[in-house]
Amino acid sequence: MNKKLFFSLVGIFVIVYTLVYTTYYYKNNKQDSSPVNEPKEDIIYREIEDYDDIVTTLQYKNYSTEEINNILGKLSDNNIKKLIELPYQDLKNYVDYKNFNIDNIKRYESYKVLNQDLEYNDIITKVNLNLDKEFYSEYVDIKNPDEITVLVNKFNKLSSNYVPSDLTALSYSSAYKMRKEAAESFDKLQAYGLTQGVSFYPYSAYRSYESQKIIYNRYVSYDGVKNADTYSARAGYSEHQTGLAVDIKSTGYSELINKHYNWLKENSYKYGFIIRYTKDNENITGYQEEPWHLRYIGEQHATKVHDLNITYDEYYDLYIKEY
Ligand code: DAL
Ligand code: ZN
Repeated sequence: MNKKLFFSLVGIFVIVYTLVYTTYYYKNNKQDSSPVNEPKEDIIYREIEDYDDIVTTLQYKNYSTEEINNILGKLSDNNIKKLIELPYQDLKNYVDYKNFNIDNIKRYESYKVLNQDLEYNDIITKVNLNLDKEFYSEYVDIKNPDEITVLVNKFNKLSSNYVPSDLTALSYSSAYKMRKEAAESFDKLQAYGLTQGVSFYPYSAYRSYESQKIIYNRYVSYDGVKNADTYSARAGYSEHQTGLAVDIKSTGYSELINKHYNWLKENSYKYGFIIRYTKDNENITGYQEEPWHLRYIGEQHATKVHDLNITYDEYYDLYIKEY
């Protein structure tokens, strides 16, 4: 092949290649910039599986454009998937709250009838926490017992087999153990307290399912179930089984309450602890005030719980649980 012919062929190849490539590239890019799910007029677009079907279904069920935009703009994927299976629902009182759970909508309505003075945000949180039901009337098995933020209460139960894998002795005494992170933070909190003239000591930390059962049954034997339930957790329902709770004492109860309580309230969160059972929250926690019971949830969450001044049950529902 002579040189001329060779370079002509190369030239033709380059031109054809460039043309084919450019056309292909242009076509592909064009497709990318115009999604299959073309936004409908006046209705916002949202990245969600079956967007088109969802909008059509909502329109068919007579939701207004404003309602559809609220649904697409504010509800979780989970709620939207469930919503389209239901007949029309008036959601105006609910869409703004991120812990709204469409499964509970009938219960919200009933609870509102009985508690007219509560705002809807409160209605949602309280019903989500099952406060429209009797304590211990039902429970779910806790699926994330190893998470530092785990919620254990009278509706969320730990397995009888659950034992944390990283129990670590507190420096005060090897008789008391907590999860490693919690133990290290407790030691620091206790040492910091001492520098501030605030002395307290652990007297109960991790408790196994079996030991909780013994403790609770002993209270029941001399005080009855009804009373025992206001200060002692049934086995499986105690935070002590997570290795994230510790009861503290001082020289005496009155010293703990009068001298140290405010200090603990204003300082323990810096080390990741909250006072878990506070006064005036018996209706939410199901327990009398326990100024001695500290729960470790990590510094970031403890700071928020402190600042918001709400129970951990409410905090968990509002900021940790995903709906
Ligand atoms: N006293 C607390 C509620 C417990 O038994 O875990
Ligand atoms: Zn306790």
